[in-house]
Amino acid sequence: MLKMRHLIEPSDLTGEELDGLFALAERIEKEPRYLRESCRGKLLATLFFEPSTRTRLSFEAAMLRLGGSCLGFADPSASSTVKGESLADTVRTASCYADVIVIRNPKEGAALLASRYSSVPVINAGDGGHHHPTQTLADLLTIHRLRGSIDNFTIGFCGDLKFGRTVHSLAKTLTRYSGVRQVFISPPELRVPSYITTEFDANGVGYTETDSMESVIGRLDVLYMTRVQKERFFNEEDYIRLKDAYILDARKMELAHQDLLVLHPLPRVTEIATEVDSDPRAVYFKQAKFGMFIRMALLASILDAVI
Ligand code: CP
Repeated sequence: MLKMRHLIEPSDLTGEELDGLFALAERIEKEPRYLRESCRGKLLATLFFEPSTRTRLSFEAAMLRLGGSCLGFADPSASSTVKGESLADTVRTASCYADVIVIRNPKEGAALLASRYSSVPVINAGDGGHHHPTQTLADLLTIHRLRGSIDNFTIGFCGDLKFGRTVHSLAKTLTRYSGVRQVFISPPELRVPSYITTEFDANGVGYTETDSMESVIGRLDVLYMTRVQKERFFNEEDYIRLKDAYILDARKMELAHQDLLVLHPLPRVTEIATEVDSDPRAVYFKQAKFGMFIRMALLASILDAVI
């Protein structure tokens, strides 16, 4: 059983709870029958005010694989939001019907607000450019499973580090592990927000910033590619100018070492050429699958269904 009630940002989980979730996810992956019926009779509500493929489907797959059921909406236009209902009232209502709520919303802080009005646990599936804690769980599990440890490695975050909530959640969480060197690769306009680097500076967390992928790729153990977040730009002109700032292709992969892991939270647009998909170092679809196992572990733990 997790001590936390809601998961709004990764810091809601202790290091011990993170380790427990990774161990549980690994067991679920290796023993598909384990916990298979553990959530029978439980209901998951998915309230998605922004598009999603992986997060929503993996949460629903996770709940169904645990024997539970799902309800909700993938598009707010199919909900009473279009009639003017507030987020608070929507969440209050969903918590009358479900045992746990997963919510994605374009506004930073929406999941925290939802948690204040919900009578059941709320899991943040992305609030604007702020946090995406269960993607961080999927990212950490991927690194743990494929490298054997989350300590002592160099990670490069590349692309839209300003709006990329998965970057913000993962970069902050990695400071809890030892010997993790973080390299931020972005155009000047899409640098990681100063609230993160200020916190790093205040706590003596080392990092480097560059706009050149080629100059650092050879030193990386993990390359975390990201999409330029079109939906968070204020004008189309800036998006068009920046959208292809980095394209990882087979030629650039030649500069990287053989143990590199290429992660991407997905969806991918142009930033990774499809020719890279067949490179064994490209693990982003494995990462998407690990996302389902860690969400199974999370739901079973939150619903107190772990035997
Ligand atoms: N990684 C992720 O959040 O993907 P979706 O937007 O498809 O859910």
